[in-house]
Parts: sequence; C-alpha cells; structure tokens
Amino acid sequence: MGERTVTYGPAEAALIERLEADLSLQLAAKPKRLAHSLSVARTAERLALAYDVDPFLARAAGVLHDWEKATPARELVAHARALGVDLGVDLDLVRPLLHGIVAARVLPGRYPELPAAVWRAIEVHTTAAADMTPLDEVLFVADGIEPLRPATPGIERTRSLVGKLPLDELFWESFVGGIVYVLEGSRYLYPGTIEVYNALALRRAGHTNETR
Ligand SMILES: [Fe+2]
Ligand SMILES: [Fe+2]
Repeated sequence: MGERTVTYGPAEAALIERLEADLSLQLAAKPKRLAHSLSVARTAERLALAYDVDPFLARAAGVLHDWEKATPARELVAHARALGVDLGVDLDLVRPLLHGIVAARVLPGRYPELPAAVWRAIEVHTTAAADMTPLDEVLFVADGIEPLRPATPGIERTRSLVGKLPLDELFWESFVGGIVYVLEGSRYLYPGTIEVYNALALRRAGHTNETR
C-alpha cells in the first residue's frame, strides 16, 4: 500500500485542512479518537488510490466519520430519536451504531460543498449495507485496519490483503471480522447486520434473486 500518492488542488487542500481543524475542536476531549480519525482518513485515501476510488472523498469521509463520538451516549440516542432514526429495535440497544447515522444527518448542513456520497459512507460505516458503494467499502475497511488500531489476527489478515484482494472481498473480510468480534464478545448483534450478512452471502454464492 502507499505506492501511489495524490496532490490536491488548492480548494480541496484547503477544505481538508478546515475539516481537520474543525475535527480537532469537535474531538478536543477525545485525543485518541481524533488520532484514530486522522489515521482512518489517511488509510482511506491510500485504499482509494489502490482501488480507483476518489481519494479526496475518501479522505474527507475518514476525517469526519467519527464526528459524533464526543457526544455523550444518552444525548446521542436522544438526538437519533429526535431525527426519527428507526432501526427496528430500541435505539439504546444499538448505541454504538448511531454515531455514523447521526453524523450523516448533521454534517451536510455544515459542509454543503461535500457530496452526498460522503454522507452515505459515513452513515453506513457502522452498520454496513447490502449495497455498499466502493467509497462506502473504502471507509469501512479503513476504519477497521488503520495502523493505530491494535493488531488482532483478523486485522492483520485484512491489512495483508490490501491490494491483493478485490475491494469487495476486502470489505467482506472486514465485515465478517466485525461480526465475529461482536459474537466473541457476547455482545448484542443488531438484526440489520444479519440481514446485510445474508444478502451479501447469497450474492457471493451466486444467488441473484435475494430480497433486500
Ligand atoms: Fe465509527
Ligand atoms: Fe472510527
């Protein structure tokens, strides 16, 4: 990874600088989360270059993906409820999934210069979706493998496969690894994740008539 580099034009470079400065304030109380976010942004940019995805959009999505991580849990749940977020289960059960969804609703008003593709990637970075775009997959994978994340066998495996597997396959590795992590930790597994898993598993098996 990292064979290709990118040079942005002045407008894009200035916007990245502004996003990073804004995030430093937003996550001022969470230095580790800030470092993680900037690391995800760099990793997403590198993945984008490796897989022919727009590196600027990947970088921007990476910077902003955990924007709501400084919001206290109860406040985040209340905000999601106020926004009408409906995941089919009590939102208290899926608190770890809400920060991406809420950020995707809050941030477009703040950064109208960024396209919907960025907000969509941020929205699905916790839940994944049956119809992930390449940009969605880049952010999802980058979040899971950025170099500041302590290595586990699964993460190491995904890292070693960057550039070797197609992006869809890399995402699948990362997605399944995330489910295994939830199961091994005896944590609540969001039913929507099972639906996404089944849709993707059927597609991989060559079924074309899966329902979504
Ligand atoms: Fe996140
Ligand atoms: Fe993250």
